[in-house]
Amino acid sequence: MHTIHDVARLAGVSIATVSAVLNKKGGVSAELTDRVEKALVALDYQPHQLARGLKARRTQTIGVVIPDLTNTFFAEVVRGAEDEARSRGYSLILCDSNEDGSMDRTNLDNLYARRVDGVLLSPSHVMSGLDRLSQRRFPIVFVDRIPPGFDGPAVVIDNFGGAYQATQHLISLGHTRIATIAGRQDFCNAIDRLEGFRKALQEADLPLHDEYLQRGDFQLESGYRSGLHLLRLPKPPTAIFSCSNKMTLGLMSAVTELGLRCPENVSVLGFDDFDWAANFSPRLTTVAQPTHEMGHQAMRMLLDEIQNREHGGNGNWNKKVMLKPELRIRNSTAPPGGSGPARASAS
Ligand code: RIB
Repeated sequence: MHTIHDVARLAGVSIATVSAVLNKKGGVSAELTDRVEKALVALDYQPHQLARGLKARRTQTIGVVIPDLTNTFFAEVVRGAEDEARSRGYSLILCDSNEDGSMDRTNLDNLYARRVDGVLLSPSHVMSGLDRLSQRRFPIVFVDRIPPGFDGPAVVIDNFGGAYQATQHLISLGHTRIATIAGRQDFCNAIDRLEGFRKALQEADLPLHDEYLQRGDFQLESGYRSGLHLLRLPKPPTAIFSCSNKMTLGLMSAVTELGLRCPENVSVLGFDDFDWAANFSPRLTTVAQPTHEMGHQAMRMLLDEIQNREHGGNGNWNKKVMLKPELRIRNSTAPPGGSGPARASAS
């Protein structure tokens, strides 16, 4: 790999002249600029990012820590983050904690060791990352998952409103025996989804039987097991609100395994949309999160803060952004008894 010294030697100029051309500082004649540029091309010179980072005390690199790389939800959030980072000259280091809080710590330590300029974090444990905020090693923006009461830099969605609207949709179809498979109750997103579900039932004077509240963990297996349990009850629910994409996939496996049909025997409404939801049979009714926008806005918040600090900002940037989810009505929800899909939309 050629160095800046090789470029200077080939162009017959000083190191300072090559540096001025590379950093577009001006003050170099057209003739010398042309000689440097020809030498850069001839040697296929690539700046040494780590060396530049040490000098500028920046690496132009952002760490992204997510709980589950295999989950399309997080993949779409990361894509939104990367689109913003790339447009502003930053690269990403992506870390998967596999829903393990100790891996969050390891990933954050490794990212610090690599002197990333900041971190986007969707934590696998409710306490992950909070200590780093106080240490101010590097700015952190939380995305999607935050601990109860957290009001620091974060981009989340209105989980309560999304669940409330979804449950109202099931009630509007005439369902009175409505169950839910809730997510991990240590994060606000799952807590708020369950609260939105409860609120809609309460306002419609519908009871929530203990058996109809299944506690999942966002993973497929918990959706499958909860689905089997609910659908084997003496009086099974006629509608089930599943609070994450993977749990919905598990639930649909249980429906099929029991020889039941959706929505004829049971309506299913899942939190999180995903590519194949519209290609499922039946096409799933979902609460879609603005995943790309979540990643985009979280990265924008982080990069703005990094640049703010470079210009002497005092870092009092604690602000939380809440985005809106969207109810996408397809064919997996219908009146009890399944008398045809509920106004299936094209989405
Ligand atoms: O497993 C995906 C779920 O976990 C999504 O609903 C998202 O909110 C994440 O926290």
